[in-house]
Amino acid sequence: MKIAVLKEQAAGESRVAATPETVKKFIALGAEMAVEAGAGESASCADADYAAAGAAVGTRDETLKGADIVFGVQGPDPASLGGAAPGAWIVASLNPFGERARVDAYAAGGYEALAMEFMPRITRAQSMDILSSQSNLAGYKAVLDAAGEYGRVFPMMMTAAGTVSAARVFVMGVGVAGLQAIATARRLGAQVSATDVRSATKEQIQSLGAKPIFVENVAGIEGEGSGGYAGEMSPEYQAAQAELVSGHIAKQDIVITTALIPGRPAPRLISAAQVASMKPGSVIVDLAVEQGGNVEGAVAGEIVTVSGVKIVGHRNVPGRLAADASALFSRNLFNFLSAFWDKEAGKPMLDAEIGDAIRLTQGGAVVNQRLLA
Ligand code: NAI
Repeated sequence: MKIAVLKEQAAGESRVAATPETVKKFIALGAEMAVEAGAGESASCADADYAAAGAAVGTRDETLKGADIVFGVQGPDPASLGGAAPGAWIVASLNPFGERARVDAYAAGGYEALAMEFMPRITRAQSMDILSSQSNLAGYKAVLDAAGEYGRVFPMMMTAAGTVSAARVFVMGVGVAGLQAIATARRLGAQVSATDVRSATKEQIQSLGAKPIFVENVAGIEGEGSGGYAGEMSPEYQAAQAELVSGHIAKQDIVITTALIPGRPAPRLISAAQVASMKPGSVIVDLAVEQGGNVEGAVAGEIVTVSGVKIVGHRNVPGRLAADASALFSRNLFNFLSAFWDKEAGKPMLDAEIGDAIRLTQGGAVVNQRLLA
């Protein structure tokens, strides 16, 4: 069982799908590990450390030759996988809805593509969930990015020259990223409030010492869709939310938006008029910018200033913490494959619950129900 760890090819991707730590653990399971030279460079993992952990470090061709499993952070270009074993597994974050043509190409190439972001949200798969591990870091970094762009401080400070007041931070969307954003902003001393469509988050917001801002008494209020994710909200709810949020946003210094709906464009939470209602010098960080954006005027990969308000739209925010993001992503992959490792067969054997959820292609065809529906 040979596992290949490729150097990421996507522009701006700084993470790597295996660290020397997980390479060592896979070898202990009985796998043969091959790492493309330079794969971990931007995530602070040196080739020498991979070699010391027991991996063969080589060219892309050498790494891929005969590989049974190919690891990536993002899906590798199907045309660049020559040399891998027939039917090799591609294990990565494959963006199945956004990169459908690439999924079709994996099928045509005879690969078995496993999309880590389709991991079901069940207790035993928590340690395999790349969305959680990466969102957690993104929520943290969003607050630091906001603090970096903000021309004032977060905590209240009483100084000899006078008092500066605490920043008001509003977090919209309280999933994994939002919870970490609340906790981080609190640690920096801000006054934090937050909102979500799932009423279960109200208590979570309070338990972190922040103030919940919630739409009450409107039809279609319960936003919980399947698997703990949000669904799309009724027009009545959206109107009530817009009104409530408008009054609140105008008083905020920092807004962090994290709202996503799986398989759909991100919901629009802040209009240009609401941006204009904020004080000059305020900062908005849109973590959903690559999925269409929660904020009108946000531009992926840019920081734009509109009416004196900075709208931060960094791409690949977990990649801005490449070392830790890689360490957690790599452990997600290890936790996943090791849970299914069959010692006698010397390879992982997936069960139906997880296998069917994440397998996109098999036997030359696209087989995933979410893509066929
Ligand atoms: P996500 O990244 O899909 O969305 C972020 C947040 O935006 C969610 O809380 C969602 O409710 C919210 N949102 C969507 N539309 C909105 C709107 N119009 N206005 C305001 N907020 C809106 O969510 P994430 O972070 O993946 O977490 C979703 C849930 O899954 C959470 O309850 C989390 O605890 C749970 N979870 C369970 C896991 C497991 O059991 N293995 C692993 C990870 C998360």
